[in-house]
Amino acid sequence: MPVLTEIAKNYLIKVPFIKRMAKKRHVTGFNQSEEGVQTIYDTYKRFTGFEGKNIIELGPGHTWGPAKKMKEAGAASVSIIDIERYIPDSVQEENPWLNYIIYPGGAMPLPADHFDLVLSYTVYEHLRQPETTIRETYRILKKGGMAIHLIDLGDHMYFKIDPAKQFNCLKYGSKTWDLMSRNRSIYVNRIRLSGWRQLHQQAGFSIAEEIPYIDEYSRELYEKGQLQYLSPLKSEDRFASNILLVVRK
Ligand SMILES: C[S@@+](CC[C@H](N)C(=O)[O-])C[C@H]1O[C@@H](n2cnc3c(N)ncnc32)[C@H](O)[C@@H]1O
Repeated sequence: MPVLTEIAKNYLIKVPFIKRMAKKRHVTGFNQSEEGVQTIYDTYKRFTGFEGKNIIELGPGHTWGPAKKMKEAGAASVSIIDIERYIPDSVQEENPWLNYIIYPGGAMPLPADHFDLVLSYTVYEHLRQPETTIRETYRILKKGGMAIHLIDLGDHMYFKIDPAKQFNCLKYGSKTWDLMSRNRSIYVNRIRLSGWRQLHQQAGFSIAEEIPYIDEYSRELYEKGQLQYLSPLKSEDRFASNILLVVRK
């Protein structure tokens, strides 16, 4: 029973020994690969320059390369904030300009109205407290400041082994989904494009750009009568597998 197996994995990951082993092997996003660093940097650079700016990136995982590139491009300061420590102390010792903050994921231990740019890449889909995080990004940004988020709206459990399961996470009721995944790094909050827009607007942001990427294979399957669990979604949400969201305070 796949659901029961996933529920068991979700409980087992809380066992301290298993958690430690899993963390050692855990790969976060691009995992500081050269190509990944460039992709993240180029994504942000599409919308902004970095010179003279106070910048914070949420959820870098192991990938601190974009922070380094932004510093080299003239950023006034670069901070990175995560809920888990993935970057070794030696990196911070060799790069004293890098402000690496670990926090529990709620309120951010940062001053209000300080940053020009808030950035994230494949982080928002993992947020356990999305409203709080969005409110916090609004609080720490200066008036006129910008936030850029690349959000992966796809399934993180099965998609890599089967492209027909791009949106498999949407099959389950919310209680079952939480039981299967809440404690795990493959957890996604399943908020869709229109939901992200609404949450940002409710927090006071205005939307500057919203670029969806459409999964044509899922659309094809849906038109053939499959993936019926997508039918309750708004049409703009149904096949959007990633979004690039740029918002302003
Ligand atoms: C898929 S990894 C992405 C890593 C990196 N951005 C990349 O693309 O290679 C997601 C990261 O988001 C972090 N994360 C999850 N919730 C967070 C939160 N509330 N605040 C900051 N980081 C968070 C995770 O710890 C993890 O490092």
